[in-house]
Amino acid sequence: MRNVASSRLNALWERLASRYDHLLRPLHWQEVQLASAEGISGCVLDAGCGTAQLCLSLLERGLDAYGCDLSPAMLKAGRRKLAAFGHDPAHLVQADIVHLPYADGAFAYALAAGVLCTLPQHLQAPALIELLRVSLRGVRLLEPLDVGLRRPLAWRMSECAAGMRPIPETQLRKLGIPYRLGWSAFAGAISYIQLFKPS
Ligand SMILES: C[S@@+](CC[C@H](N)C(=O)[O-])C[C@H]1O[C@@H](n2cnc3c(N)ncnc32)[C@H](O)[C@@H]1O
Repeated sequence: MRNVASSRLNALWERLASRYDHLLRPLHWQEVQLASAEGISGCVLDAGCGTAQLCLSLLERGLDAYGCDLSPAMLKAGRRKLAAFGHDPAHLVQADIVHLPYADGAFAYALAAGVLCTLPQHLQAPALIELLRVSLRGVRLLEPLDVGLRRPLAWRMSECAAGMRPIPETQLRKLGIPYRLGWSAFAGAISYIQLFKPS
């Protein structure tokens, strides 16, 4: 059962879709996302792909990139973008990150940026497990990670206003997922995390 905060967030993506890329441009988000995909190759899933900026960048670099998202408006913007660059818009599908419609190991890598933090906390673990299930080599995350530091005020305000939640680092340990924290900024508010398949 989704809570009120998450429906408010889902409605937000519908409203923001047409302005999303424009709003994120000053943050150089596209570059940050691309950096998170450095060194990966083959078939890649961007789960919670939004307007598919990362999918497009990866396709343009010759990767076989796919995306899924819950928001019809974000997907519409993404499909239009892929089509405008000559890529198949069918690479983007509507799907819930907690129930991905793909076989085990269907992708070499799964990526997620700014998605898990929008889920109710009890769905973060199932989503992490789902991302690992569909990836053969591992998962790359760009998400806020709660490493136990005092969080900046702006971040705490966004949690209250929009229901965004950082992933507790303890959650990764509890699930027994091997991971490496690549880098993080603003006391973990943006963290690059690599997850590896448990052996
Ligand atoms: C902050 S945006 C991030 C979009 C993109 N990953 C980026 O970095 O620009 C969050 C996205 O997650 C999507 N989303 C939220 N809950 C989802 C879910 N349960 N399954 C799939 N996508 C979801 C939203 O529709 C939205 O497009």
